[in-house]
Amino acid sequence: MLKSHSCGELSKKDVGAEVTLAGWVDRRRDHGGLIFIDLRDREGIVQVVFNPETSPSCHKIASQMRSEYVIRVGGEVALRPEGTVNPKLPTGEIEVIARNTDILNPSKTPPFYINEEIEVEENLRLKYRYLDLRRARMKENLLLRHRAVKFIRDFLDAKGFIEVETPILIKSTPEGARDYLVPSRVHPGKFYALPQSPQQLKQLLMIAGVEKYFQIAKCFRDEDTRADRQPEFTQLDLEMSFVQEEDILSLMEELFTALVAAIKPEMRVTKPFPRLTYAEAMERYGTDKPDLRFGLELGDLTDIAAQSEFSIFRSAIAEGGKVKGICAPGCGGYSRRQLDELNKLVQSLGAGGLVTMSLGTAGGNLNDLTIKEVKSVAARFLTIDQIKQMGQRLGAKRGDLLLIVAGNPGLVDMTLSELRQEMGRRLKLADPNLFAFAFVEDFPLLRWDEEAKRWDSEHHPFTAPRDEDVPLLDSAPEKVLGRHYDVVCNGYEIGGGSIRIYTSELQRKVFRLLGYSDEEIDSRFGHMLEAFQYGAPPHGGIALGLDRIVMLLAGEENIREVIAFPKNQSAADLTFDAPSPVSQEQLAELHLRLREER
Ligand code: AMO
Repeated sequence: MLKSHSCGELSKKDVGAEVTLAGWVDRRRDHGGLIFIDLRDREGIVQVVFNPETSPSCHKIASQMRSEYVIRVGGEVALRPEGTVNPKLPTGEIEVIARNTDILNPSKTPPFYINEEIEVEENLRLKYRYLDLRRARMKENLLLRHRAVKFIRDFLDAKGFIEVETPILIKSTPEGARDYLVPSRVHPGKFYALPQSPQQLKQLLMIAGVEKYFQIAKCFRDEDTRADRQPEFTQLDLEMSFVQEEDILSLMEELFTALVAAIKPEMRVTKPFPRLTYAEAMERYGTDKPDLRFGLELGDLTDIAAQSEFSIFRSAIAEGGKVKGICAPGCGGYSRRQLDELNKLVQSLGAGGLVTMSLGTAGGNLNDLTIKEVKSVAARFLTIDQIKQMGQRLGAKRGDLLLIVAGNPGLVDMTLSELRQEMGRRLKLADPNLFAFAFVEDFPLLRWDEEAKRWDSEHHPFTAPRDEDVPLLDSAPEKVLGRHYDVVCNGYEIGGGSIRIYTSELQRKVFRLLGYSDEEIDSRFGHMLEAFQYGAPPHGGIALGLDRIVMLLAGEENIREVIAFPKNQSAADLTFDAPSPVSQEQLAELHLRLREER
């Protein structure tokens, strides 16, 4: 090693020791005589002092050092003189008196500060990711990710799971997104697909008798990126044989509780994890991934609104729509501007608009509220009784603000769910020290795709229907519930899985329902149907979004912050400048010709 110690490990107990350190110049201060260098390596920062009187040659080299130069220093650990102790730095009680030094490699001036936590344009950070990762916050995130993955591996190993790697070049495995395709050189005109998940492979491992499998698996989905979505991401994927829902869910509860205790002991979790049905989650929160750190539940006001003279409500209901709302506590005094902001948010989500009702001033009984005190465009068209009933249904007090949306049920739920999040943020309702995990169950097996005019899987086609619902597959597919479950935390879907179909008859039936012809079923999924006929055990599993979990543990709001080399918003890798053009020769080898640019 070119060094004897790490910068961050030195302390008072090392005083008097001769050490050799190597790292980066975090900061250089030239005090006329003495030069101070904050030397940084992965473990931390230590102050090095270059004295022109005692080590003139060393001092001369130090005067050439600049930020991010890589240097080596030999010297003695000494207590800092009285009054110069830096309590903010773990090594702040000591310094290293340099006796020899050399510059191992100079550095160009970095495009942004490494030693300060300031906002830097993200694309610049991504282009110079190797510099961005030198920054303290990013280093912490990498470390945290490593510790979380190590914890998960050890946890599952202790439970008898074995880690099995599965291939990246396979055949399309449908998870509802577009595939990334890889053209084959050896098989002209044929393509591999990168796995959207190892779903079919892990099921085949169950048929192979592995019984308990897991993998930290790379998945690829060609879909638009978002704060919690990357085209290339990582799952903790697992599968077990001879299990039912309860086995997977209790394993998950144990895993998450232990993970938080090990990695973020200052955070709380609510146990047992609440369980919601899909229908209940939609009804109460308007989303299947509710943030349960706060209430602000949605209330259905359709029956009351139907009695009113307000045309917006009445026409929405006449068209088969709903009227739902939430109550923002203490927001009755919101200004015109604040209300406009909320209205804009609602409109940006595609809803017609937001009806706001301010319920007078705080104090006293809601029952005494008079129509004069209510501020709302709808007030003229509703009786005071109707307004009070709406208030009561949403749990309102005087001084609160009702936020009401009317229209298509799906749109109403989605809009109010976003509005609920927004009000939660504005009112700081979420406990910052809580991970509110929950399970969502009883999803419909299928959803009707209006555009394609066919049924689509709510999750993926390998999810088993509930036994008692199998007869409904023929008569009323919309009523069939799947044995699917999601894990949610603080408003994010952090995992999803199911108990699987394991007979080829039922699997074929579901594929047919999804609109595949028998030829398509055989050519795309024949390997699965055949495998099911060789003693496939009952099995089930789950996949967790590792990036999202680490993001939550790190207190970040974007998964890019916990991925070493993520893609940017337009799915590009800016460090490598990928995707990029390839040569005509490469294309020819792959039997491909590009269409003329239009
Ligand atoms: P699913 O598609 O629900 O299930 O994915 C499981 C979890 O992976 C995370 N996730 C993502 N994270 C980042 N970027 C993305 N583009 C992305 N897409 C999904 C989410 C999600 O909950 N094979 C099934 C699992 C199973 O049935 O066992 C599957 O992949 O946190």
